[in-house]
Amino acid sequence: MKKLLNRKTTEQKLSAKWRRIVKQELGCLEGYLREVITSEDVVLKNAALGLIEAGGKRLRPALAYLAARLWEARVEDLLPLLAALELIHTGSLVHDDIIDEAKLRRGQPTVNHVYGDSAALYVGDYLIGRAMELIAVCQDERLDLSLNRTILQMCLGELKQERDFFRQEQSYRDYFNRIRRKTALLFAGSCECGAILAKAPAAGVDSLWRWGYNLGLAFQIIDDMLDLTADEKTLGKPTGNDLRQGNLSLAVLYAIRQGDEAAACLAENINALKKGDETVLPQALTLVRQSGGLRFAAQTANRFLQNCEREQKNWPNPAGYIRQALAEVLQEFREQMQKLAGDF
Ligand code: IPE
Ligand code: IPE
Ligand code: MG
Ligand code: MG
Repeated sequence: MKKLLNRKTTEQKLSAKWRRIVKQELGCLEGYLREVITSEDVVLKNAALGLIEAGGKRLRPALAYLAARLWEARVEDLLPLLAALELIHTGSLVHDDIIDEAKLRRGQPTVNHVYGDSAALYVGDYLIGRAMELIAVCQDERLDLSLNRTILQMCLGELKQERDFFRQEQSYRDYFNRIRRKTALLFAGSCECGAILAKAPAAGVDSLWRWGYNLGLAFQIIDDMLDLTADEKTLGKPTGNDLRQGNLSLAVLYAIRQGDEAAACLAENINALKKGDETVLPQALTLVRQSGGLRFAAQTANRFLQNCEREQKNWPNPAGYIRQALAEVLQEFREQMQKLAGDF
């Protein structure tokens, strides 16, 4: 027991370390972000500032930063890219909340809820437009190309998601296609662009792309698991929103495929949700949690994390602690996922 406790404490310390590095070395990002999103237009300014000040994990800039530090890049040279990544992400969330008709984001009322859908559409566009302006400052067309392509794919992913709403016969492949586009490619692009700006060799850039891509797939699977399990206060957004919306994630697709009585009942619940009957949501969530779908999702995410681990073996380790910090990110994801699957 003591051994177990000791291990847990060590793991927690390890997990916290990468965040400490990012916090200490990347403190200037917050002020920079606030500066670059100011606008003369009151709605644009308040909505964008409100979102940035509401928090967010800043995961994409953190990953790009760590990736670039593997090749000893300086933070001053990275700031426009890092801010751009956060703005692309934030803009995509504003658009996503319109599609999802979401009311809560980062613990605050969404832009669509406060200002309406059309204003939110422009706020999202504004943030992504600002991001592209910042990328242009970096004067490297590989960055333009990578992030423009990523944005394009994100659009396709969100469109596909809407088309797949409530489509129970969709395949796992459909699911992976969606999350690849809407999430994994921006993780991949973030790590890739960090490595490009750090003047990493081509093999290093490619490896960071693959690492980010696999991490992004695992990240979206975990986010989808959280939607089925966590409470609204922890999430900063409502629980079960994906299912209510008809966005069928991996655990749900697994549960539907079990061919037993519970699966048939879940299928009926999903049809009822499609017709707007939200009273069945608690039962549907329970059926998914009891189906073993969360374990299945965790195993799948774990395979992606193993792919990440393989990439790390060939990275340089000049600053000593940076490669370790990136490994700790994986460890943190793994712990979170095991907890989510283990609780059910
Ligand atoms: C939410 O991303 C959207 C997904 C891709 C699942 P984050 O969980 O990184 O959101 P913030 O930036 O921390 O709010
Ligand atoms: C967000 O995915 C995808 C984007 C890239 C916009 P989700 O729909 O799962 O994100 P949340 O759960 O609303 O944060
Ligand atoms: Mg959403
Ligand atoms: Mg989600």
